Parts: sequence; C-alpha cells; structure tokens
Amino acid sequence: MRILLTGKDGQIGSELLKVLSQFGEVTATGRNEMDLAEPSQIQRIVRQVKPELIINSGAYTAVDKAESEPDLAKSVNGIAPEILAQEAKSEHSLLIHYSTDYTYSGEMQQRPYFESDFPAPNSTYGKTKLEGDQAIERSGASHLIFRTGWVYSSTGKNFLRTIMKLAKEKNELRIVNDQTGTPTWCRSIAIATGEIIKSLIDKKEDSLSKTASSISGIYHMTCQGETSWHGFAQAILELSCPESIPKLLAISTEEYPTPATRPTYSVLSNTKLQKTFGVELPHWEDAIKQCLKNIS
Ligand SMILES: NC(=O)c1ccc[n+]([C@@H]2O[C@H](COP(=O)([O-])OP(=O)(O)OC[C@H]3O[C@@H](n4cnc5c(N)ncnc54)[C@H](OP(=O)(O)O)[C@@H]3O)[C@@H](O)[C@H]2O)c1
Repeated sequence: MRILLTGKDGQIGSELLKVLSQFGEVTATGRNEMDLAEPSQIQRIVRQVKPELIINSGAYTAVDKAESEPDLAKSVNGIAPEILAQEAKSEHSLLIHYSTDYTYSGEMQQRPYFESDFPAPNSTYGKTKLEGDQAIERSGASHLIFRTGWVYSSTGKNFLRTIMKLAKEKNELRIVNDQTGTPTWCRSIAIATGEIIKSLIDKKEDSLSKTASSISGIYHMTCQGETSWHGFAQAILELSCPESIPKLLAISTEEYPTPATRPTYSVLSNTKLQKTFGVELPHWEDAIKQCLKNIS
C-alpha cells in the first residue's frame, strides 16, 4: 500500500511515521518536500505518489500567531485539506485528517462535545481548521477526520516541555485554571490511528477508500478524562520532579491574556470512536506517565 504523510516533523506526524511503515511504502513529507500553502505542489505530489491512503497531520498550529497571519493559516488549514480531498477523490484514496477541539466555542458547555454539536470557533486557528474539515466533508472523498486537543509530546515545544523547563528555572508558576480540556499524548493518537488503519485493512475488500466510505466523517480522538491547564501542570510536576515542585498558582484566563480566544470547555466525547472502531485512548494521567518514561 502506498501512503502519503504530511507534517512528518510535527508532534503527531513524527509518531505516525513510526506506526505507518508496517502498512506499506510511506512517502513522508514536511515543509521542504511539500509546502501545504502551495496547492500546485500538493497536486503534483499526490499525482506522483498515487497513494491509497493520504494522512494529513501537517497544519498551521501557532494558535496566537494565526491572529496576525490569517491568510497563511487559511491556506494551510483551510485550503490545503480541500486540495488534498479533491486529489483523494480523483485518486480513489482514503484521506485521514486531524482537526481540533478549538472548532467549538466552549461557552456555556456543561458536557463533553459530540461530533454532532454545532462548531463555533472563536479564534482564527479554529475557524481555519473548521474550514478545512467542512471542505473535506463536502468533497465526496472517503475521509476520517480525527478531532483532538491539548496535544503534547516528549520532544519539541509544547505545554509539557515548557512546564518541565520552567520548573527548573522558577520557584513559582502561574497557570490558568478556568479552561477545561483533555491533554492528549501525540503517541496515543498515532497508536489509535494505526489500530484504525489496521482494522480497515482487515476488512478491506476492494480499496481502503471504499471500505471507509460508509463510515466517513468526524471522530473525536482524545485521551480520557478532563482537567484544567493548572491540573495538567500539577500532574506534570508531581510526576516529573516530585522532590522540588515550584509553587503553582491558579490564575484566570483574564489574568493571562492571549491574542487568540480559547474555548473555556472543550472536552470531547470519544463514544463514536469507541463504538465505530473499538478504539480507546488511555486516561490523560496514564498517558503522561508513559510519555515521561521517554524523557531522560
Ligand atoms: N498541538 C495541539 O495541541 C493540537 C490540538 C488539537 C488538534 N491538533 C491538530 O493535530 C494536527 C497535528 O498537530 P501537531 O500538534 O502534530 O502540530 P505540529 O507539531 O505543529 O506539526 C504540524 C506540522 O505541520 C507543518 N507545517 C506547517 N505549515 C506547513 C506548510 N506550509 N507546509 C508543510 N508543512 C507545514 C509543521 O512544519 P514546521 O515544523 O516546519 O512548522 C509541522 O511539522 C494538526 O491538524 C492540528 O491542527 C493539534
């Protein structure tokens, strides 16, 4: 099976790379191999590779910077998925794409979001990601859109790494405690994606795209449970440096203003994912423990 992966150097993409080789020949692309802001490059590479499966983990993910670079965010998050979906349709490929909890407003929300809930993003990043999701849904291509949230990795720049770094430098950390979501380890996402691909391959009769066509749609894919950024930080500190934890102060979103507005509550129900594929990601606290084992 030929697989085309975008975003190979990202948190999810680099974990996917480890999982995908068991399924076939992977053409892994990053910014240098295929610029997602350039539709003609996307078309050229998809037509060259002729993949049975396209996995788009590339995205413009700088949530705050997107407020001042809306056109670039739209190109990468809104237009590139549309082009990939058009190409997937004409090449009869299955398109797997990742989206975000920031497509929901998170206002007045009392329970985890279902896929059928109305999206109402309140940031440029969220709006452009929603445009991408909607373009894929309209395209007629066989697709699986996995909406996730609060993604972290054992490497690179992310909340977990930042907290561990700050813990070494400061005696006191001020962390927002009025936003609720679910921290999700990028490896848990890659493993779940691999399990889903394997189950489709096991059921495959003609093509992967045909096998998945009746279940095309949006699926929430996060770790289990919920917490605040403050709760996430506390768990990271207790698990990574229990002997010298800096003082952790809970602050409000108002006390930590950012260019982009984030949802107050963006916990995602994974029931549809579990019912359709029998796949469940670990509880967020268990995933952190596993992730920390990868950090020396
Ligand atoms: N991170 C989160 O908390 C989070 C939450 C919910 C959903 N998601 C979604 O999950 C997916 C993967 O996120 P992630 O956390 O793995 O993000 P990430 O680590 O930022 O990776 C995204 C990758 O996309 C690449 N990229 C950006 N612009 C590009 C362009 N013009 N052409 C080609 N490649 C480009 C980046 O390359 P460079 O390194 O060169 O910039 C990066 O390697 C995205 O769809 C994201 O929206 C993420």
